[in-house]
Amino acid sequence: MGDVAEGTRVASAPGRVNLLGEHVDHQGGTVLPIAIHMRTTVEYTPGDAWQISSEDHEPGDAWMRHVEGVIELLEETGTAPAPGRLQIRSTIPERVGLASSAALQVAVAGAVSDLPPWDLALLCQRAENEKVGVPCGLMDQATSACAIQGNVMALDCGSSAFFHLPLPACELYFFPSGIERSLSETPYAERLAEAAQPDSAAARHVATERLRVAEGIALLDAGDLAGFGQLMYASPASLRDDYRCSRPEIDNMVEGLAAVSGVLGARMMGAGWGGGVLVLADAGEQLDGGIRLLTDDGLYRLE
Ligand code: GLA
Repeated sequence: MGDVAEGTRVASAPGRVNLLGEHVDHQGGTVLPIAIHMRTTVEYTPGDAWQISSEDHEPGDAWMRHVEGVIELLEETGTAPAPGRLQIRSTIPERVGLASSAALQVAVAGAVSDLPPWDLALLCQRAENEKVGVPCGLMDQATSACAIQGNVMALDCGSSAFFHLPLPACELYFFPSGIERSLSETPYAERLAEAAQPDSAAARHVATERLRVAEGIALLDAGDLAGFGQLMYASPASLRDDYRCSRPEIDNMVEGLAAVSGVLGARMMGAGWGGGVLVLADAGEQLDGGIRLLTDDGLYRLE
């Protein structure tokens, strides 16, 4: 970002992938996200008025609403930051399911406030709920604010307890589907309301996915990546048939990737209705056409 003027503060926050535990965070379930190397960085220089700019965000005001929402909520909660210039840079592609909005919120809140990481996560989730109008769970903001490099963050969204689980040696790839969307354009809120109804198909997905996550934690802990991969394969069927947030194009991608040698697991990842596919493969396996997320030593790539 070049030279930083006196009084300027810089904060940076990563995007995420989610190994397992889709659409359970808003129902108090446990998720298994991991922070990725792609990040959003915010440089804040206090001044007379707010001046917000980004070369890396799509034209239009959707991303701006995330920035303004965080600032408004800080003002309302009594930690009002002084107005100033916010220069925003990001390497996270938008609208593909890598939680670019959460990283933007966390980086802005981190630059303009002194809140500790967990409080940043809670504030940013609240900003998404109240100011953007998407009733999202806590996974994306908590990962962006609190995850540790090279570890899976096992986050119980019911109790807010979390621990970091080392990722056994493997490869992780993300394959964007090319079908872009933002959460507010999807039936995210509608399906979430259905999931809260005990006998619904959406609730059935939540119940089976929660069991997969519990089993997945034990398998990761035991270093059984092949077993973990099998759980990943079960997740998209449930997301397709019960939660009904997949798309045929994405189901086809999962099927194609599952047939590639060295692939242990693949599943539609993120909120759905677009986004992409997360693939778990044997360590050292090179896959064409996806974004490689880990380095040779198992850590995520730093830029
Ligand atoms: C989005 C939301 C998260 C979570 C996922 C689906 O990323 O922001 O809170 O609900 O969808 O697992």
